[in-house]
Amino acid sequence: MKITLHSPVDMHIHFRQDAMLSLVAPLSAQHFAGGVIMPNLIPPVNGVERLQSYTAEVLEAVKPHAFEPYMTLFFRDYTEQELAAAKPHMLGIKLYPAGATTNSEAGVREIGAMDRVFKMMEEQGIPLLVHGETHGFVMDREREFCAIYRHLATTYPNLQITMEHITTLDALRLLDEFTNLRATVTMHHLVITLDDVVGGLMNPHLFCKPIAKRPEDRDALLQAALAAHPKLMMGSDSAPHPIDKKECPGCAAGVFTAPILLPLLAELFARHGALDNLQAFTSDNARRLYSIDPPPKRVVLEDIPMTIPASYNTVVPMWAGRSIGWSVTEVV
Ligand code: DOR
Ligand code: ZN
Repeated sequence: MKITLHSPVDMHIHFRQDAMLSLVAPLSAQHFAGGVIMPNLIPPVNGVERLQSYTAEVLEAVKPHAFEPYMTLFFRDYTEQELAAAKPHMLGIKLYPAGATTNSEAGVREIGAMDRVFKMMEEQGIPLLVHGETHGFVMDREREFCAIYRHLATTYPNLQITMEHITTLDALRLLDEFTNLRATVTMHHLVITLDDVVGGLMNPHLFCKPIAKRPEDRDALLQAALAAHPKLMMGSDSAPHPIDKKECPGCAAGVFTAPILLPLLAELFARHGALDNLQAFTSDNARRLYSIDPPPKRVVLEDIPMTIPASYNTVVPMWAGRSIGWSVTEVV
């Protein structure tokens, strides 16, 4: 079996900086025509100059691949002028609740105090990308945040809101309720549950935020992805951390999947007889929802087995050492 994908895009990636950027950016750019680059660096990408300098670093790191970085700003209390100046250089603004995940300490403490910024983003047509978790009990954080999504979607009907990396049936249901909500989902949340993380011996390489949930959540997300739900986009949340930050007490949150995303997705979609929907899930939905036009790239996948490497330099990928049934055989 064989499938050709046209300009796949990864709508949620962590590229980091410096040596890590040089290591991981080409691993996405070899298979993807573009991707949404997250701004949770130290310090965060929260000004137009920093946005432009980080864009230049990313463009340097993805060479020689054709890859369009869709940049994001880190949400803060911006002025109207700052938003207008940044708009041409980015896809949208990413909101992190303070402390919700890696490098998010500078995030929002009181979402209710940010009405002015949401209003200006709505007026200027700047999409809002959201890490939707409260500070409640870890398994309930996303479900609790749905009330905030409802509030935002209702109060700002013309604000385009992306619920990033959804992990629950509750979040999935919101998609069909509000026209201005869309969502990304990771590959790993389509295939794992909390059992894979802590049900047996703990697997730090599957520990991420939001944490993997229950089988019924995973199954609902998988069905929506396999059906290429028109408001659902593949956003890997590929989040590399060096091995010593994962295999230690105080394990950092993040699953590194960039180099194995397309083979694993092809295998998954093929197993469920849904290969025809992989193009929409990995590219067409995102193009339509964000009106983006990534550079042409043809990626051929075939059911030829490969073994996931034990590591990529300092970073251990999801399911390291496992054999999978599909691989990328050609990129043009
Ligand atoms: O697990 C995660 N890791 N979730 C996030 O939201 C951020 C990411 C990271 O930057 O490491
Ligand atoms: Zn992320």
